[in-house]
Amino acid sequence: MQTITSIKKSKSNTPLTMITAYDALFASLFDNKIDIILVGDSLNMSFNAKPDTLSATLDIMIYHTKAVCSGAKDTFIVCDMPFGTYTDEKMALVNASRVYRETGAHAVKIEGGKHRAHIIKELTSNSIAVMGHIGLMPQFVRSEGGYKIRGKDEHDIEQLIEDAIAVEKAGAFCLVIEGVKADVAKKITQSVNIPTIGIGSGVHTDGQVLVWSDVFGFFNEFKPKFVKRYLDGAKLIDDALQRYTQDVKNRVFPANEHTY
Ligand code: KIV
Repeated sequence: MQTITSIKKSKSNTPLTMITAYDALFASLFDNKIDIILVGDSLNMSFNAKPDTLSATLDIMIYHTKAVCSGAKDTFIVCDMPFGTYTDEKMALVNASRVYRETGAHAVKIEGGKHRAHIIKELTSNSIAVMGHIGLMPQFVRSEGGYKIRGKDEHDIEQLIEDAIAVEKAGAFCLVIEGVKADVAKKITQSVNIPTIGIGSGVHTDGQVLVWSDVFGFFNEFKPKFVKRYLDGAKLIDDALQRYTQDVKNRVFPANEHTY
């Protein structure tokens, strides 16, 4: 099982694997087979069918993180701090402490660069491990007017590098880089000593993360360019459901072997 120390040692080494999970069943399928499980606030969309992550609450995140921790006892688990729960140091510490106290999560994740460095510092100096998250930050979708790929001009590149350095200095052990042009993600990765984990940010980061329903083909409304599907999950379910339905309608199920 990974630890903060072993994750930090992954810098410029074999890439880290991270996947989201929101419940005990899937967490148990991923347990011990992946470096990090992220209970992402993406659950608000992929689990809860909401249009964005913003309405996820701390109670919701704690509920799902507890479930994931029950299912995956041998995997490093990170809980996303949801929107509006870390707007100042005091609030962040109270809320992140709840996550530590009430769940078995090993770390929390915070969106934001240098403007959130003081928050990260408050948590790390109070013994709460923090994974940073810069680049495209889904919790900014409304204030930014959409999801926008980052790193398109020199000024933005400079800002992103400053963000990464500030997050590292504040004590984060690891950094998610989302939706950043691959050459820029490479520069950011080279600018910090903590491992970077990319999503939609090319191959040069120290690891990759994807949302589980994207990886296994359960979410088919659209496929972002950065997603690679490793299973046609929705089709497998559909085929199985049709066979189950036919069997019930035709009184083929339950057969003798399923009957007391
Ligand atoms: O909420 C989430 O799942 C995330 C990942 C996509 C990085 O933040």
